[in-house]
Amino acid sequence: MEKQRVCVTGAGGFLASWVIKFLLSKGYTVHGTVRDPSDEKHAHLNNLENAADNLQLFKADLLDYNSLCAAIAGCSGVLHVASPCTTPVADPMVELIEPAVKGTLNVLKACTEAKVKRVVAVSSRAAAIWNPSWPIDQPIDESCWSDKEYLNTIKNWYALSKTDAESEAWEYAKKTGLDVVTILPSLIIGPMLQSTMNASTLTLVKIIKDEAEEMVNNDLRIVDVRDVVAAILMAYEKPEAKGRYICSAHNATTQDLVDKLKTMYPMSHNPKKITKGEDKHKLSSEKLQKLGWTYIPLEKSLADSVKCYKEKGILL
Ligand SMILES: NC(=O)c1ccc[n+]([C@@H]2O[C@H](COP(=O)([O-])OP(=O)(O)OC[C@H]3O[C@@H](n4cnc5c(N)ncnc54)[C@H](OP(=O)(O)O)[C@@H]3O)[C@@H](O)[C@H]2O)c1
Repeated sequence: MEKQRVCVTGAGGFLASWVIKFLLSKGYTVHGTVRDPSDEKHAHLNNLENAADNLQLFKADLLDYNSLCAAIAGCSGVLHVASPCTTPVADPMVELIEPAVKGTLNVLKACTEAKVKRVVAVSSRAAAIWNPSWPIDQPIDESCWSDKEYLNTIKNWYALSKTDAESEAWEYAKKTGLDVVTILPSLIIGPMLQSTMNASTLTLVKIIKDEAEEMVNNDLRIVDVRDVVAAILMAYEKPEAKGRYICSAHNATTQDLVDKLKTMYPMSHNPKKITKGEDKHKLSSEKLQKLGWTYIPLEKSLADSVKCYKEKGILL
C-alpha cells in the first residue's frame, strides 16, 4: 500500500529540504513546491534517497492559488514551510507580509479544496517573543503572542509577517474546521543540504567568521534543523498534536557559542570584547517535549554545521 502523499511548500529551502529528506526516508510520496523548477539551486533535491521514485516537484508561487491547488491535489497532508526570510527589504508589504499572509491563506484554502486531513504550518519564535507585557523572568510559552502594534513601531517586518500569517491561519482554522498545527522554531542551525546560504545559516557563519573587534552578547535561542523536522513530523503524525508548539532547544548566548566554537574550530575569530546584550526571554518547549520531542546536543549541532561549511567551501 502506498504510504501517504504529502505536499511540502518551499521545497528547495534550508528547512524544507531536510523535511523532504526525512519524509522520503520514511516512505512518503512527496509533492514539493518550488518557484522555478529549472533553477540549479534545487539540484540537491533530486539526489536525495528515494527522490527518483517518490518526489515530484511542482512550480508554484504562494501568491498563485491555482499553482498551489495543482501541487496539493491528491495529498492527505501539507507541510507549509515556505515564507520569505529576507531582511532587510525595500518594501516590507510586497516582499514579506503579503507572501507570508496571503500565501498561507492560499495554501490553507487549497487544502480545504483538496480535503487535506492535516496541515502543519511553520511559524516562528518571532510570532511569540515580541510581547513587552510578558514578564522577563517567565519563559515564553505557546500562550504568548507577539504584539503587532509593537512590531509596527519597531519596524520588525519579518516578525510581523510571521505573526500575521500565523494568526490568520488560526482564524481560518476556526472558521472552516481545517485541522491545523503550527510549529514555532527558534534560530535554526545545522548542516545544509542546499547549495545557497539561508539567513539563519548566515547568522552562525558570521559568528564564526566575522572579524569584528567587539560583539554583543545576545541571548540566542537555538534549535537544530533535524530537530525541527522531527517536531514537524510529530505534529503531522501524532493524532493528539494540537495548537501551537514552540520548538527551541538551547538558550545559549553569543559568548557560549564563541567559547564552544573556539575549541572545535580554532580558526574561528576571537572578538577581543563581548559586551553585555539586552536580557531576553527564555523559550519553553515543554509542550513539544510532552509530545515526545528530544533534541541534539548543541556541541553536535555546531560540529556538524562546521563540518558542512568546510565541505561546501564556506569555511577553510
Ligand atoms: N531558519 C530559521 O532560523 C527559522 C526560524 C524560525 C522559523 N523559520 C521559518 O522556517 C521556514 C523555512 O525557513 P528557512 O530557514 O528554510 O529559509 P529559506 O531557506 O530561505 O526558505 C524559504 C523558502 O520559502 C520560499 N518562498 C519565499 N517566498 C515564496 C513565494 N512567494 N512563493 C513560494 N515560495 C516562496 C523560498 O523559495 P525560493 O527558493 O524560490 O526563494 C524558500 O524555498 C520559513 O517559514 C521561516 O519563516 C525559520
